[in-house]
Amino acid sequence: MTILGIETSCDETSAAVIRDGKLLSNVTAAQLFHKEYGGVVPELASRAHQKLIVPVVDEALSKAGVSKTQLDAVAAVYGPGLIGSILVGLSFGKSMAQGLGIPFFGVNHMEAHILSNLLEESKPSFPFVTLTVSGGHTQLVLVKEAFEYQLLGETKDDAAGEAFDKVAKLLGLSYPGGPEIDKHAAKGNPKAIDFPRSYLDGDSFEFSFSGVKTSVLYYLRRVGFQKSSENGDSNLVADICASFQAAVLDVLLQKLLSAAEKFHVRDIAVAGGVAANSELRRRLKDAAAQRTLRLFIPKFEYCTDNGAMVALVGYLKMKEGVVSDLELTAEPNLELR
Ligand code: KG4
Ligand code: ZN
Repeated sequence: MTILGIETSCDETSAAVIRDGKLLSNVTAAQLFHKEYGGVVPELASRAHQKLIVPVVDEALSKAGVSKTQLDAVAAVYGPGLIGSILVGLSFGKSMAQGLGIPFFGVNHMEAHILSNLLEESKPSFPFVTLTVSGGHTQLVLVKEAFEYQLLGETKDDAAGEAFDKVAKLLGLSYPGGPEIDKHAAKGNPKAIDFPRSYLDGDSFEFSFSGVKTSVLYYLRRVGFQKSSENGDSNLVADICASFQAAVLDVLLQKLLSAAEKFHVRDIAVAGGVAANSELRRRLKDAAAQRTLRLFIPKFEYCTDNGAMVALVGYLKMKEGVVSDLELTAEPNLELR
């Protein structure tokens, strides 16, 4: 079974080919021009997807050594995400499947992130708890089986990555802010400033990151912080980054670990762009070792938005025989079901 997977839900145009569960190619064109606007501009993202979709799909097929007529199915994301962006990959995928007379699978982007943990040779065993942390999402999910999920909690306001991006902007650092904060935090003191941790009610698995972001803003006003090109070397910036990062990571870790304990799982997994954070990885590794939990984090190219995770879900759906209708439409607010 050879399946093409297409991902265009935000600002990455990506396509991948999977054969019998083995990944043959994964090609991603990141739309780097959003950097100059300090964030993703939806209209420009969909225009760029239009230009990139054909070359990206062609490259994924040629890298895999597979021709279009050898495909057994096409899978594409139908939500959640930016409607104009989703529509490009979804319409392309459905048309391709129809033209080739093969099945089409609509894929939930969040389900794809969760199952991206099954792309690597070493995989978590069911049931496992996964934390998906990206620019658009923060979700803690108990994965009982491949298509059986229990959403334990998600963010009530900003996603974790969004908070990193917004705080970086306040500090005059470039977009995306996560890698910038990660870099500066390494030189700072995480205990320098006591930013608030939002644990919400008792043992809630919901998240909230707008409070910590606002408290960074108030702190900057109080100390009369001025954005400047020399801030890169400033100890104050390093301390703010380290303290803010610690506040976010404390919450992410505490909720992930207590979910693992509550549901008696042995395996925990993390996915999404924020999973690239070096301090998060270090602390998770330590915490997992202390509790004899097995920790899974996909390779960076499978953490951020990618076609490989979509192709994998398509493959699993094909095995289950759950084909999507070609009338399937884009659902920007699609939930995990
Ligand atoms: O999954 P992703 O590539 O795209 C989506 O949002 O779906 O995630 C991007 C997010 C951005 O908010 C970016 O700042 C964050 O992941 N990110 C990081 C790091 N690298 C990327 N956040 C913290 N530390 C990092 N090293
Ligand atoms: Zn994503």
